[in-house]
Amino acid sequence: MATDVFEYYSHDDWSLMKAEMDRHETPFLVVNLNIVRRNYEALRSLYPFAHIYYAVKANPATEVLTLLRDLGSCFDVASVYELDMILSLGVSPDRISYGNTIKKARDIAYAYQKGVRLFTTDSEGDIRNLAQYAPGSRVACRILTEGGDTAEWPLSRKFGCHPDLAISLIMLSKELGLNPCGVSFHVGSQQRDIGAWDSAISKVRYIFDYLKTQGLELNLVNMGGGFPVKYISKTSRPDVYAEEITRYLKEDFEDGLPEIILEPGRSLVAESGVLVTEVVLVSKKSNVGVDRWVYLDTGLFNGLVETIGESIKYPIWSDAQGKCSDVFILAGPTCDSQDIMYEKFRNPLPAEIKPGDRVYWLTTGAYTASYCSVCFNGFPPLKTYFVK
Ligand SMILES: Cc1ncc(COP(=O)(O)O)c(C=O)c1O
Repeated sequence: MATDVFEYYSHDDWSLMKAEMDRHETPFLVVNLNIVRRNYEALRSLYPFAHIYYAVKANPATEVLTLLRDLGSCFDVASVYELDMILSLGVSPDRISYGNTIKKARDIAYAYQKGVRLFTTDSEGDIRNLAQYAPGSRVACRILTEGGDTAEWPLSRKFGCHPDLAISLIMLSKELGLNPCGVSFHVGSQQRDIGAWDSAISKVRYIFDYLKTQGLELNLVNMGGGFPVKYISKTSRPDVYAEEITRYLKEDFEDGLPEIILEPGRSLVAESGVLVTEVVLVSKKSNVGVDRWVYLDTGLFNGLVETIGESIKYPIWSDAQGKCSDVFILAGPTCDSQDIMYEKFRNPLPAEIKPGDRVYWLTTGAYTASYCSVCFNGFPPLKTYFVK
């Protein structure tokens, strides 16, 4: 069955975006800033007790950052480049957290010199650098979490450490003159199991309790991102997530909530974007085979990298002619055989689809434009147009 665009967009949002889409040559991304605004406001009201630090990496377009700045958001940066972007918009450094646990000593020194005083860490080497180049700063230690199997884009393996090590690192950071303020975690992006937050929060509580017995009081929980959006697979509604996560927090911190930070990326911007592509070629690989290959003018290296391993399954739509069929394998335009978006997973497309027809990738406002290669095979990075 064909994707119903209106399962994903209201008529008003879609007609505003479609008018913009009709004006440009593919490929490009259209971002509807009204949707970003609404998502930010909804998150604020679902988690009134939390500070929101937008994860800049999800969509670092100036238009998105300026909007969120004006709405009062804080920002989670992954590098000095993102830091400069945010500072250039006049955001004061006390609204910025340096959330990447992998950073050079000179980048720590740069961030400190620019006024950043909140960092995330998960290793002794990084803590020693922080103590030397960002003395006295607030530091949250990131722990490993469960939930890798239920996140469509897992993040907890490369980042975080076991709670036992976190305890030692927090104590070390105190000895070295830092201000160990709390614990951070990320349950994995597009996390479909709300229970992942439950087990992470109980680990945090254990660390808080243990360190209290050592005379060290923590007062911050950074819960990262992970809040899912509606792609092809269904997830619970944001209010269900908020209700459950708030309950876990209140159960584990019945004596009063510490400072809570959220670092949403995907959930603020994904739904705001539609990536518009054009069919370059339709072909088959044998005379008798039923499968047909549709090559688009955008692929893994031009914005659709999260389809790698068929991880994120975006809904797609085309206004080409014919009854929808699922015989299509979708691939990108480069001379790289990894540049295949979906081979096992079949997104239905109109049977008579042909070169020149457009294919619209819905809910692609996060981790698309920011992931584009700069000139792989000569293809330029994706352009973004904004509507509001
Ligand atoms: C440290 C950190 N915080 C927040 C995020 C945003 O996560 P999400 O897009 O799932 O909301 C990420 C994603 O990579 C991250 O690495």
